[in-house]
Parts: sequence; C-alpha cells; structure tokens
Amino acid sequence: MATQKILLLPGDGIGPEVMGEVRRAIEWMNSQGLTSFEVEEGLVGGAAYDAHGLSISEDDMARAMAADAVLFGAVGGPKWDDVPYDVRPEAGLLRLRKDMELFANLRPAICFGALAEASSLKKELVEGLDILIVRELTGGVYFGEPKEIIELENGQRRGIDTQVYDTYEIERIAAAAFDIARTRDNRVCSMEKRNVMKSGVLWNEVVTEVHKRDYQDVELTHMLADAGGMQLVRAPKQFDVIVTDNLFGDMLSDVAAMLTGSLGMLPSASLGAADANGKRKSLYEPVHGSAPDIAGNGIANPIAMLSSLAMCLRYSFNMGDVADKLEGAITSVLDKGLRTGDIMQDGMTKVSTSQMGRAVVEEMATN
Ligand code: IPM
Ligand code: MG
Repeated sequence: MATQKILLLPGDGIGPEVMGEVRRAIEWMNSQGLTSFEVEEGLVGGAAYDAHGLSISEDDMARAMAADAVLFGAVGGPKWDDVPYDVRPEAGLLRLRKDMELFANLRPAICFGALAEASSLKKELVEGLDILIVRELTGGVYFGEPKEIIELENGQRRGIDTQVYDTYEIERIAAAAFDIARTRDNRVCSMEKRNVMKSGVLWNEVVTEVHKRDYQDVELTHMLADAGGMQLVRAPKQFDVIVTDNLFGDMLSDVAAMLTGSLGMLPSASLGAADANGKRKSLYEPVHGSAPDIAGNGIANPIAMLSSLAMCLRYSFNMGDVADKLEGAITSVLDKGLRTGDIMQDGMTKVSTSQMGRAVVEEMATN
C-alpha cells in the first residue's frame, strides 16, 4: 500500500486531547495494515503564536500544502484575546482555508439514535436527522476587500467588511452541492438574502443556471437564509443538502449542529478542486471549538475528531470500508452507553477522552 502523508494540527484548548485519540486510531489502523499513514504534527493558532509569534508558521503552511490530508483540532482561547488581529489564532485556520483553496466545506448534521433525547428540540423532530450543509469557505465577507476600520473626518470610526462573490465561486460550490446530493436524497436547498443583497441575487441566479445546465435530475429549492434558519429549528428533516455562502453557512451550521444534541459529535470536511488525477487538497476538523473551559482535564468528547478522521478516509483516500468500520465503532460504543460529560445521560457510563478513544479502537478491533 502506498504511504500517505497526514499532517496533524491539534491547535489549542481541547484540540491536542481529541487529536491524541486520532493518533491512537491511526496507529491501530496502520498496525492492522488497513492504512499506511505517515503522520506529521505541526502548530496552529495560539500554540503557533506562543512558539513563533504567528498563527501558523511558513514551514507548517508548506507542510499543509504538501500533505495528502490535514487533520485540524481547534484554535483560540482567552489566553490570546489580546494578541494582534493579524496573528490571532483564527487567522491560522483562515489562512489554511484560503491558501489551500478549500472552497467546499461539508458539515453533516446527523442525529445519533442514542442521543435524540439530548437535542434542545423534541425527539420526534430530530430522530433520524441526516442533513448536510455545504458552506462556501474561501469567499464572501470573510475575505472580501476592503476589510478595515477607518477614521472619518467627523471623528467617527467606520468598520468595513465586503460581501463579494464572483460567478465561478458560486458555480463551483453549487456543483459540489449537486454532486453530493446525487449520492444522498438528491435534494438541494440554496439559501441567500436576495431580498436585500446583490450578492444574494447573483447567488440565486447562478445556482439556478448551474442546476438548469447540468443537474436537472436533482431537486432544487431556494430559501431566504433567515427563513432557512427558522425552518431548520421548526422542521429540520425537510432538508437534505443546504448550500449557502460563507457567513450564512457559519451560522446555519452551528444551528444545525446543536439540533442534533451533539455539538461534540460532528465532523467537517473542507475540500479543494480535484486536480487532473482526481486528488483534492483537504482539511478535516470537528465543528466544535477549542472549549478552553474544559481543556486539559481529559474530559472532552473525541467523537467529532474521530468522525473527522472517518470523513478523511472517505473523501481523501477513498477508503469507505475503513470509514464505515470507524463510524460503526463509534455508533456501537454509544449504543453500549459510553458517554463523555457533554452527552452524559441518566444510567449511562461516564468516560474520559482517552477511555472513549480506546473503546472506539477496541470496538473496531472486535468487529
Ligand atoms: C467555524 C468557525 C470559524 C469560522 C472561526 C474559528 C474563524 O466558527 O469554522 O465555523 O467562523 O469559520
Ligand atoms: Mg462557526
């Protein structure tokens, strides 16, 4: 089996703890000959700032560009609240997304049967939920220029961000959403604010054109993003794939994640365009953040990070069978009643980060 290079960027807060369980899983998979991964590790976020005064070093950036896949933990925390804006922890993540051109961010919101009770919504609304948010990740207001705070002559200051989308950016994210919908329930709902934003008008038109040109077999609907947020909490199961811009995608994916009662459980994939050999640059990260309040106690839930590894196996290495094995092990461990503190319920067994990670590996080994 050809060796593939994976770069681990654990980052800050609970990042290193949950990444430790990914290491454990990779070591086991390598030892069984299921994979042949060569693992390197780098610094990002506050950890990189402490070491180099940067949110990611040029050296680690180059390693990320050269890796076959990047696994990312989490960045940020109160310790770095006052560092200069350009080198704040989040800047490292944004640079990775931008320089690796990871324009397609896939954020599944899946409700694990064992956790349906943990949702803030009624069980029947979320049981069996399986939706996918496809968020545009390298454009829009996150990166548009000008982006600045300027001094006005009247003594006021003005904060400016620019929401901007070009045709090709909308075309490629729409195509990604339609392609993925074909592997699922074949339905896409596109969300924007065409009632107030020109970029929303263009978004709506371009998605409609791409659909008409290449994807008429997929069902396409449109929703204003605010109404979409409302529908997500009213009746989330009506959706299959939601495609939306960078900022709306940020917000809607947090809403969708929380619906599942399992923010600590959800993975994400950020993918670039396929090259001539069908290979894409890719980065996988849990949807949850660095959770500085519980960092260092060994109690964080490693499942989102482990599920991110499963997505990596599936999307970067075409190892669907190994991904199934890992995801199956996660489901079994939950069915057996193991719970980290964030998803603890009456009558279940409370476990630490490493106990959960070990249980998942043991489950893979016995199945
Ligand atoms: C996310 C996060 C990031 C974002 C932050 C950490 C910059 O909220 O991945 O959703 O806003 O994209
Ligand atoms: Mg977010």
